[in-house]
Amino acid sequence: MKRIFSGVQPSGNLHLGNYLGAIRNFVALQQDFDCIYCVVDQHAITLWQDPEALRQRTREVTAGYLAAGIDPKTSIIFNQSQVAAHSQLAWVFNCVTRIGWLNRMTQFKDKAGKNRENASSGLYVYPNLMAADILVYKATHVPVGEDQKQHLELTRDIAQKFNNDYGVEYFPIVEPLIQGTATRVMSLRDGSKKMSSSDASDAARINMTDDGDTVAKKIRRATSDSERLPDAAVVGPDGQFTTVFRQARPEAANLLTIFAALTDRDLAAVVAEFEGKGFADFKQALTEVAVARLGPMGDEMKRMVNDSAYVDSVLREGAERAAAIAAPILSEVYDIVGFLRP
Ligand code: TYM
Repeated sequence: MKRIFSGVQPSGNLHLGNYLGAIRNFVALQQDFDCIYCVVDQHAITLWQDPEALRQRTREVTAGYLAAGIDPKTSIIFNQSQVAAHSQLAWVFNCVTRIGWLNRMTQFKDKAGKNRENASSGLYVYPNLMAADILVYKATHVPVGEDQKQHLELTRDIAQKFNNDYGVEYFPIVEPLIQGTATRVMSLRDGSKKMSSSDASDAARINMTDDGDTVAKKIRRATSDSERLPDAAVVGPDGQFTTVFRQARPEAANLLTIFAALTDRDLAAVVAEFEGKGFADFKQALTEVAVARLGPMGDEMKRMVNDSAYVDSVLREGAERAAAIAAPILSEVYDIVGFLRP
């Protein structure tokens, strides 16, 4: 049986990268699989969060899941801190994962910055909690954007080492699902940087709750170059942009990718439509599709955040259902490692 698990941190605004790289795939997968979608508030506090803002953003991410089309009747939606089994299994994984493995995590290096000695120890063991999130449900498939690939490789290593160390075939070796055209959406200001909620400039990202005027302004001001839009030669035989094109014109590649993803078309078709045109026309068209796609979702999110009773009831019920799946798995793990239950 396939079981899907994924999570989003409530540490900033939900943005177009979260939507195109992850959340819209979450929605599609619910038709065929058991899905568990988590708001990972314990991951968020690896960097300090204002407590009131954290509560608000937890509701916002939940509202984003719901507005995008995740059905809380079939899929499970909950916030991580409400199911204690995640951190209980994470402790076991702290004792399985080797320090050398964590030292290779590029996200830790990026987030810790220059002053690594001053980073929280939670930030360092973050990937162990992420592995626990997934494996406490014995999930088999994990939809994510490209930037989470390394963490999922570590999750596979942790599962493998646990199974070897204890001589069991217990945890599945998870498969990442990195799907769609826009698995790595880049900043609107700098095409070499990932679109991120932690970018100091709000103009670098399109937030799911931005109104039409804001989206139009951000796209109009998005960095571009002085050339016209390219021809079919920039799309390789695999349907992706060639590395040469992405490196030479990262902003053009990013905006065209976003357009293709928002309209559910392949890159070749989008390139053919805009070949030889200037950025002004293209940006106008991009604004229209972005507003049409995101506008209703953003409105629905704002409406739901104001109805916090409904959002909270979804989270409460989701946590109960999640805990019921996690409890017997954690018990089996405790037996495997030899914790006495007198
Ligand atoms: P987070 O909260 O940074 O991002 C949530 C999801 O959005 C994707 N994403 C992007 N995709 C494309 N382009 C972008 N610019 C972009 N920015 C973000 C991320 O890849 C992710 O899928 N560690 C995870 C949260 C997590 C998790 C888990 C995920 C905790 N436990 C267990 C899966 C399974 C994170 O920080 O994602």
